[in-house]
Amino acid sequence: MKEIKRIGVLTSGGDAPGMNAAVRAVARTALASGIECVGIRRGWQGLINSDFTLLNRESVGHILSRGGTILYTARSSEFMTKEGQKKAVATCKMLGIDGIVAIGGDGTFRGALALSRLGVPVVGVPATIDNDIGCTHYTIGFDTACNTAIECIDRLRDTMQSHERCSIVEVMGRNAGFLALYVGIAVGATAVLVPEKELDFQRDVVERIQESRLAGNTHFMIVVAEGVGSAVEIGKQVHEAVGIEPRVTVLGHIQRGGTPSARDRETATRMGYSAVKALAGGRSNCIIAIQGGEILEIPIEEALVMKKSLQMDRYEIMETMQFGGIASHRTSF
Ligand code: F6P
Repeated sequence: MKEIKRIGVLTSGGDAPGMNAAVRAVARTALASGIECVGIRRGWQGLINSDFTLLNRESVGHILSRGGTILYTARSSEFMTKEGQKKAVATCKMLGIDGIVAIGGDGTFRGALALSRLGVPVVGVPATIDNDIGCTHYTIGFDTACNTAIECIDRLRDTMQSHERCSIVEVMGRNAGFLALYVGIAVGATAVLVPEKELDFQRDVVERIQESRLAGNTHFMIVVAEGVGSAVEIGKQVHEAVGIEPRVTVLGHIQRGGTPSARDRETATRMGYSAVKALAGGRSNCIIAIQGGEILEIPIEEALVMKKSLQMDRYEIMETMQFGGIASHRTSF
């Protein structure tokens, strides 16, 4: 087994709260194991451009509570090319990097696979607010993004309640509905629209609002995952079908910022630690995953084809919270 003397760490793709905790964990675990740690700035593009900084105990101090990533991040199209990947390998050789910890989502791990095939050992750490990585039950940033969206929606509810309006809120999630469903349950949404469930506008929106009205509600909250389509369009349809003038809010990048939650700091620290332990132990080309609370190392190739479905039992729970007991409510009048 080749001795690991120096590793690189980078963050790539969309940032996620808790990435800094992961960078800190990687650097401090490396230093504690007698391994030097180089921070690669601006993701895979930084590896191509030799954009780096040496990390020590102090340089990763006081970053646990900071959102974003101190290493910056980027989505690199050059790294998708063989030419770009070769330049990245050359940087690793030049800097004497024996392995890389890549913190990010799906795109980051596709980059990791390409680099590992060119002989650079890589370990991936899943971080994305979308929680859409198949091999792991949890990705760094999801909890904080949920909490941020919930806080925003609670505020929206105050004004919607005062004016007796309908709010249509679009949340992120790319092609997945994890964020929307978790948030929808937590805010007691009238309806939650997710890409995993084919939209029947009459059943999923119009009837929900009508039922909610019958139950005595005078304001309504519709949470729409961005993967379903534009909340503005949904708003127009609500106006036409129900006759109420909705207010549309696209939460957008607000969801990606802010102080990481306890869960994200703790998970990121465990994952960063485990990534360095894997590299130091001669294990690489894997993703650090969490399944049932346990940390696992899943080979990247396997991880990239693993699928994770939205838990439809949670969808049922969300509906039950809104509409369970409506019949008895009606008969009591
Ligand atoms: O993957 C994280 C994410 O925030 C998605 O939810 C969203 O679709 C996308 O990134 C936005 O990307 P960008 O920051 O490049 O606009």
